[in-house]
Amino acid sequence: MTKNIKLYVEKDYDALSKRAALIFAKQVNAAPLAAFGFATGGTPVGMYEELKKMRARNEIYLDQITAFNLDEYYPIENTNTQSYAYFMAENLFDEVNLPKEKRNIPNGDSSNPTAECVAYDEKINRCGGIEMQILGLGTNGHIGFNEPAEFFSGATVHVELAESTIQSNARFFDDEKDVPRHAITMGIRTILMAKRILLLVSGEAKADILRDALIGPITPNVPASALQLHRDVIVIADEAAAKHL
Ligand code: F6R
Repeated sequence: MTKNIKLYVEKDYDALSKRAALIFAKQVNAAPLAAFGFATGGTPVGMYEELKKMRARNEIYLDQITAFNLDEYYPIENTNTQSYAYFMAENLFDEVNLPKEKRNIPNGDSSNPTAECVAYDEKINRCGGIEMQILGLGTNGHIGFNEPAEFFSGATVHVELAESTIQSNARFFDDEKDVPRHAITMGIRTILMAKRILLLVSGEAKADILRDALIGPITPNVPASALQLHRDVIVIADEAAAKHL
């Protein structure tokens, strides 16, 4: 693995979540007014639980950061309980008192998604860029909703979800047909512009794709392989996910 990627292998999901929260908290406490990037999905939930506990013990202050989420389904209203806006409020933002005006999540209800994408990148730039971006890894190698493709995406973009993502995310819905077919996601360039990246990967089902992402060829067929081009990536995997590294 190249030197720009620092790998932590933790015993299990619990240890992974604790390690991730500690690293993230250190970064926030060093730059409490900066912008930070958040992810949804199952993987960061344990880390968010740890951050809430740390906030209760006054070990981290998230009240003054500006948050930018990676992605949002499209179309979806932000009051919909399946929206990522709702997910973040429930799993982290409400409990750590992050003011609503500091929560940026692509607007899944925009009548002009293309303009929404442009405005999102501009806002990240106006805030001075992202200090640390949290990422999860899709079983198909996606980061954000950048699905395997012929080309790497650039800026924030309105995309169609891959069939594999729809099937994987169906676990969060009553029925697979309820999963939105589109999303707005930070593009690969937007993600790579973050100063540091914190990738969390848990479970044996991700072991093959994690190996492909970190030590396989850099290819848009495995969007996460683009992380090899970034100069400061921290990967926290549990033993099951790291078994091929
Ligand atoms: C979430 C996101 C996705 C997930 C990925 C892994 O905002 O952008 O890329 O990080 O699908 O999801 P989980 O953690 O549910 O396995």
